[in-house]
Amino acid sequence: SETLSERARTRFTSIKGVFLPEEYKDFADAIENFEVRDDDVWVCSFPKTGTTWTQEMVWGVTHDNDFDSSKEDIHIRFPFLEFSGTTSFARVARREKVSDVPSWVLNSVEFCNGLSSPRHIKSHLPFNLLPRQIRNGERKPKIIYTTRNAKDTCISYYHFFTLLEGHRSTFDQMCQLFVGDKVIYGPFWNHLLGFWEKRHMTNLLLIRFEDMKKDLHAVIKRTASFLGKEFNNKKIQALADHLSFARMRDNPSLNRSDFIEYLNNTKFYGNSKYEGHFFRDGNCGQWKTAMSSELEEKFDEWIKKNLKDHKDFELYLD
Ligand code: A3P
Repeated sequence: SETLSERARTRFTSIKGVFLPEEYKDFADAIENFEVRDDDVWVCSFPKTGTTWTQEMVWGVTHDNDFDSSKEDIHIRFPFLEFSGTTSFARVARREKVSDVPSWVLNSVEFCNGLSSPRHIKSHLPFNLLPRQIRNGERKPKIIYTTRNAKDTCISYYHFFTLLEGHRSTFDQMCQLFVGDKVIYGPFWNHLLGFWEKRHMTNLLLIRFEDMKKDLHAVIKRTASFLGKEFNNKKIQALADHLSFARMRDNPSLNRSDFIEYLNNTKFYGNSKYEGHFFRDGNCGQWKTAMSSELEEKFDEWIKKNLKDHKDFELYLD
């Protein structure tokens, strides 16, 4: 018999040119009209670009390194706006009335609506699908946007699908989907360039996964200054320690171990168990060993084509 994961397979649709599951439509209006607050802090990103890492950094900064406050599950304290319309578990939970489902799974938009201020919200939506009040500047929450090298993002996305979505394609197929702009939230370049074009907005900070790897202290410093917080070297060091790969991997509020166990208990995947790690590898340049030269060439062509008129952005990425 089919597993819940197989039953969660969905059809996709294009909304304002963005590749999304059809069920996104159930939330599209609520997101378009979502009431944004000026004192919200948003972390936005294409999936697998270091969102959770950035969220935990931002949380540490806004909470003055009060690590007790970050013991609560990240899905609760820093919820994912459109979770209910985009993730396979939420889709099947809503459709099949799976029992015992947390409210942030069933209606993540309502969940975000109900939080008290100052809220912390995560979204993978590209700029052109963010709530209208952000797009037209009526509300000016602080927004931190992360980017990551396309090839490493694709590798990370592939492993994530295998872990949480029960995805069955090969790595090669995943790469074809990625450069074919047929992965959720794609096209990738619409996502990155959409925020890049808004880089002069004073309430937007762009950061790069690669910079966090190279010099996390510097990124923490920039983020703190953007969020109007004084962070001296001692505090920066303490936050950097908290944000290390090993500490984050073992941190139950971040590593999704409860959620993976929950999926296993719900028999989402039938009788197979999923035991991989959300924090998988965390390095830059994984593509150098993971990609064949054919795939690498495909990516390079696709990157070149998409950045043809965006030389400034190309420089930013390097
Ligand atoms: P890999 O799959 O390449 O390991 P997101 O939160 O957007 O889903 O991004 C997940 C990616 O960020 C994963 O990449 C994960 O390992 C990496 N990551 C998360 N925290 C990290 C940290 N503290 N140091 C390095 N990489 C981290």
